[in-house]
Amino acid sequence: MDDTATLRARNFDFWARTAPGWVHQTDRHDEIGRPLGAVALDWLRPQAGERVLDVGCGCGGTTAEIARVVAPLGSAVGLDLAEAMVATARNRFTAPDGAGLRFVAGDVETLDAVPGAPFDAVYSRMTLMLLADPVAGLTTVRRSMRAGARLAATVFRDGRVNPWLPAALLGAAAHLGPMPPLPIGDEPGPFAFADPARVTRLLTAAGFTDVGIHPYDVTLDAPDDPEVVTEWLIEIGPAGAAYRDAEPTTQGQARAGVARLLERFRTAGAGYRLPTGLWLITARSDGTSTP
Ligand SMILES: C[S@@+](CC[C@H](N)C(=O)[O-])C[C@H]1O[C@@H](n2cnc3c(N)ncnc32)[C@H](O)[C@@H]1O
Repeated sequence: MDDTATLRARNFDFWARTAPGWVHQTDRHDEIGRPLGAVALDWLRPQAGERVLDVGCGCGGTTAEIARVVAPLGSAVGLDLAEAMVATARNRFTAPDGAGLRFVAGDVETLDAVPGAPFDAVYSRMTLMLLADPVAGLTTVRRSMRAGARLAATVFRDGRVNPWLPAALLGAAAHLGPMPPLPIGDEPGPFAFADPARVTRLLTAAGFTDVGIHPYDVTLDAPDDPEVVTEWLIEIGPAGAAYRDAEPTTQGQARAGVARLLERFRTAGAGYRLPTGLWLITARSDGTSTP
């Protein structure tokens, strides 16, 4: 396993290079990706007037949704490493009447506390497994919460219950040249939080209590349009940066390669159904070191 500084630099570089793909796909991802975080929002039940943090907010769709729920008087803060995604979130959304909505660019691992702290609740969709030093990042989150505040996050389980995810990389990589290094062992990546015992250890080490790790299966429904669906998956994944740099012919070959591997998840005329296995992570702040 590489050292933390190397992993952190790799994560920063990855998201700087992948952000343009997320920006391009933002509306599509908000729509198809909705089931990826719905269960965490249900558990969290943000209330009017609360302050809520969204860790790894991407282009801001979930943060804006939370801001609408906590209005009036509440506020939502979206934090993300990728400046281009934060800039996009700021352009896309304004605060609903009576609520605060703010987007912050920063690395959750290196902040003392997230601007806007202390928070009553923290939400995070599909981000925590990507942290180079998860205990450092989770400790920042916990320090940014008031005593007893609640956390709800979703992450992938393992590759067996998310078969479309490796398919989206494998089908494209053959056409696109060098890819970012594949994670080894506990290195950050989509399946780095597959082991629930490890996830519990990380949250406990960061000072969380009442830790719960719950399996949750969803299906991502995508339209019956292979060109659109394969481009969405390539652009938000590890092949995204190389895809955007490639010639149109090569891009077409990459989409066709992914389409072949995803065919088993497609019903012609009905669309794609992508089976997705998540953990819902729930916990509370123990209330120490709240700013
Ligand atoms: C898989 S995306 C999920 C985005 C969004 N939550 C969603 O579900 O659409 C992971 C996000 O986490 C952000 N991220 C990764 N490492 C981070 C860190 N150390 N601090 C803050 N954000 C980070 C990335 O920039 C990216 O936007």
